[in-house]
Amino acid sequence: MAGAQSGMRGSLVGYGDAEFSLFLRKAFIKGAGYTDDVLDRLVVGIVDTGSGFNPCHGNVPQLIDAVKRGVMLSGGFPVEFPTISLHESFAHPTSMFLRNLMSMDTEEMIRALPVDAVVLIGGCDKTVPAQLMGAASAGKPAIQLVTGSMLTGSHRGRTVGACTDCRAFWGRYRAGEIDDEEIDEVNGRLVGSVGTCSVAGTASTMACIAEALGIALPGSAAPPAVTADRARIAELTGRRAVEMARSGLAIEKILTAEAFENALRVLLAVGGSTNAVVHLAAVAGRLGLRLDLALFDRMSRETPVLVNLKPAGDHYMEDLHRAGGVPRVLRELRELLNLDALTVTGRTLGQELADAPPPFDQDVIRPRTNPIYPTGGIAVLRGNLAPGGAIIKQAAASPDLLEHRGRAVVFENAADLADRIDDEDLDVEPDDVLVLKNIGPIGAPGMPEAGYLPIPKKLARRGVKDMVRISDGRMSGTAAGTIVLHVSPEAAVGGALKHVRSGDMIRLSVRDRVLELEVPDEELQRRADLAKSTSDTAPRRGYAKLYADQVTQAEEGCDFRFLQAETRRGTIPRR
Ligand code: FES
Repeated sequence: MAGAQSGMRGSLVGYGDAEFSLFLRKAFIKGAGYTDDVLDRLVVGIVDTGSGFNPCHGNVPQLIDAVKRGVMLSGGFPVEFPTISLHESFAHPTSMFLRNLMSMDTEEMIRALPVDAVVLIGGCDKTVPAQLMGAASAGKPAIQLVTGSMLTGSHRGRTVGACTDCRAFWGRYRAGEIDDEEIDEVNGRLVGSVGTCSVAGTASTMACIAEALGIALPGSAAPPAVTADRARIAELTGRRAVEMARSGLAIEKILTAEAFENALRVLLAVGGSTNAVVHLAAVAGRLGLRLDLALFDRMSRETPVLVNLKPAGDHYMEDLHRAGGVPRVLRELRELLNLDALTVTGRTLGQELADAPPPFDQDVIRPRTNPIYPTGGIAVLRGNLAPGGAIIKQAAASPDLLEHRGRAVVFENAADLADRIDDEDLDVEPDDVLVLKNIGPIGAPGMPEAGYLPIPKKLARRGVKDMVRISDGRMSGTAAGTIVLHVSPEAAVGGALKHVRSGDMIRLSVRDRVLELEVPDEELQRRADLAKSTSDTAPRRGYAKLYADQVTQAEEGCDFRFLQAETRRGTIPRR
């Protein structure tokens, strides 16, 4: 039962007369066809991110139905409300540019509406981070429900799925290995249904992370979007949300430093997306926790990749589900986890794992004694080219390029890259290092996933599949290659990357965690002094101005400064 200040009696509109505010609200409740009974119920808000522009959320209407059923079976009153929805292929200039706007929308609507708990339905890459950021700041009880992965497709007898295979086939098309007819044919096979990308891209990674954080139900990350398993999880999520509303289980009790450590372990063990590093830094920052990249790298050295998923491995999310999902991964990682971390079930992670289904033979999730990759999927690099840090997904890189020294071939921005990358006169060889500037948080803006620079066509035709590529941008979690990302500070704010010139030598050593521009300090200083201040193209109005004024660098999660917690409570991982 709802109390005097909860349910529909909570968060009254400020008319200066609370009784009148409630009187008016009751009139509108009745106008919507409800009886006074709803005033006695706890209210579970359901964040509706369905959108015609978001196929990854195409099952949201069905999930809302199932959540509502669960809420009502538990005696609560479910009410859905919309927020911004973001899809990777439909948000210009990039969904990352809009992630913080979605987080603000989510936070303020949770704060404003009379809800005692919320179910956050998200899935596509930026939506789950935005929802966790917003809910963390709003502070009300919250539970995450992901939309689930899409089904795989089949192309000429081979299983395919977005988006690792999208990139692989496009690379083959660029290299002249397949023709127009086949690239058109496979285009219709890559996305097998609604739902999120079917590999260990950002959406799948964030789904696994949400479960590891304890903010989503055990076993809820991996079931595909269109399965009965997914619908049942939605019903259970609704049921659980009512219990969370009753007990007032605050989100900061779930999203603790211990929970973030568990999430970082899982990120590494699934060989997950580099984007998740940025998103976790942003969510943690809302709670006063700073991601320490050096300590994260130390964690990476002792956390093997256990899950055999594309792009680092062979399988798809539906295979992970059949193999036991995240509970099985957590079981294999058990000795590295904080088992006392509380979850949305009201029980600890250790208690949940004790009740998890027993292990069985399968070939998707390996034991720690037989990993896919001996150390974590992601390494943190430092050096004069990235004093604030840079990262590389080493598990998806070419082993022979992890220790590499090469000549820089520089592109000043994304337009310059598009103009020259396929120029037959471009001075480029397979051992060179492709450098792309000005695709960072401010530079592009929105830190687009353009860090996966294409192999120049003339080299692709010679059979070159991978080169060292460096940028201040991001790459899709579905991509693979020897690709250094998130170079900080970015070129647009005067980082060393801005001063790299074609012909400079660059050394990458993943073993030593070094990214070094072999140019003397005095010469770099001379270039910095010579660099003219850029023309004033900064946005003057609207969200674009807010973004340019407030966005932080990658290591701080690209959140807005004024949205971060005012009080620092520690680091993740803890020292
Ligand atoms: Fe939505 Fe990949 S485009 S998850």
